[in-house]
Amino acid sequence: MAFGIRGLRRTFTNIITNDMAIDLGTASTLIYIEGQGVVLKQPSVISYRVSDRSIVAVGDEAKEMYGRTPSGLESVKPMKDGVVSDFALVEEMLRYFMHLQQKRGLMGHPRVLVSVPTGITAVESRAVKDSVERAGAREVYLVYEPLAAAIGVDIDVLSPSANMVIDIGGGTTEIAVIALAGIVANGSARIGGDEMDEYIQRWMKNVYHLDIGVNTAENIKKNVGSAFVLDEEKYMEVRGMEIDSGIPKSIKIGSSEVREALKEPVKMIVQAVKDTLRKTKAELSNDIVDKGIVMTGGGSLLNGLSDLIQEETNIRVTVAENAEESVVRGAGKILANLEIYEKVIMKGEEE
Ligand SMILES: Nc1ncnc2c1ncn2[C@@H]1O[C@H](COP(=O)(O)OP(=O)(O)OP(=O)(O)O)[C@@H](O)[C@H]1O
Ligand SMILES: [Mg+2]
Repeated sequence: MAFGIRGLRRTFTNIITNDMAIDLGTASTLIYIEGQGVVLKQPSVISYRVSDRSIVAVGDEAKEMYGRTPSGLESVKPMKDGVVSDFALVEEMLRYFMHLQQKRGLMGHPRVLVSVPTGITAVESRAVKDSVERAGAREVYLVYEPLAAAIGVDIDVLSPSANMVIDIGGGTTEIAVIALAGIVANGSARIGGDEMDEYIQRWMKNVYHLDIGVNTAENIKKNVGSAFVLDEEKYMEVRGMEIDSGIPKSIKIGSSEVREALKEPVKMIVQAVKDTLRKTKAELSNDIVDKGIVMTGGGSLLNGLSDLIQEETNIRVTVAENAEESVVRGAGKILANLEIYEKVIMKGEEE
């Protein structure tokens, strides 16, 4: 079945217009509409037919196919490291997601606030803007993800007193020290939850000679993965294919093994946090010590990661409630309170 996505552009008329916040992430896309809350949360995955590039599935359905796509079809994540890697596919994906809202009778050509990573270049931010515009937006504004995340967890970003936010997504880890509506120090690591999955896949290959799919690796990470010694060891049955024989095989792995597999990416994240703290001026560091660090993003849900960072930095670390939604909720709050948050929106000097 192919969605007639291209034809949808025509139907985007005569409908009430609302503002919309979009977190266009490497792993997932979220949409927030004022008064409605988070109306969409789907994997940033799209499946298409190789022969004519017609779209076969988007979001949840496409993620199911990811890593097991039948011949003739391709499933891809069109965002990479938080930026557009395949322009046309991002546009198709967004048009589909935005159309789902339009079907609910909510949207015309909305004004859209999109969150972007701090390291974004002028060309990359142009690509994000263009994709969102071509997907049906009337106007597009950009905001840095850590600022949106901070607002999403109710941090007073306008205050002169500093706060530190760590956002661990699928593709990147972003660390930001925020004060007076701006980012006063930051750091990042091009490592996130998706690389963790790859480390687990590689580890299973090296240690057990077992080939496992990327979705299986992600399940292992979520169920028994950890960054810190757990009170109680967890175990999980993993099915894969033995590399030499090609025979399906099932093994039981424990959380200490997965901790070993994730040692390297976890170390890189901790190092990036330490580097950012080192770059932060003494007074601002004192503010952070007083208030603690807040973690957001799906990657922050890795068991024990906040405990490890707390131990390594000696600063209290908490994981935000609804950690995967902080960025889009913050962006939504900005749109709803533009007079307060006008300063955090990117003014276009990056263009
Ligand atoms: N319970 C969990 N434990 C460990 N990792 C998790 C858990 N839940 C989700 N994740 C991981 O979080 C990552 C997705 O996080 P998130 O949705 O914040 O990313 P994103 O915003 O799409 O990416 P980015 O910000 O890098 O563009 C995925 O790699 C996912 O596997
Ligand atoms: Mg994100």
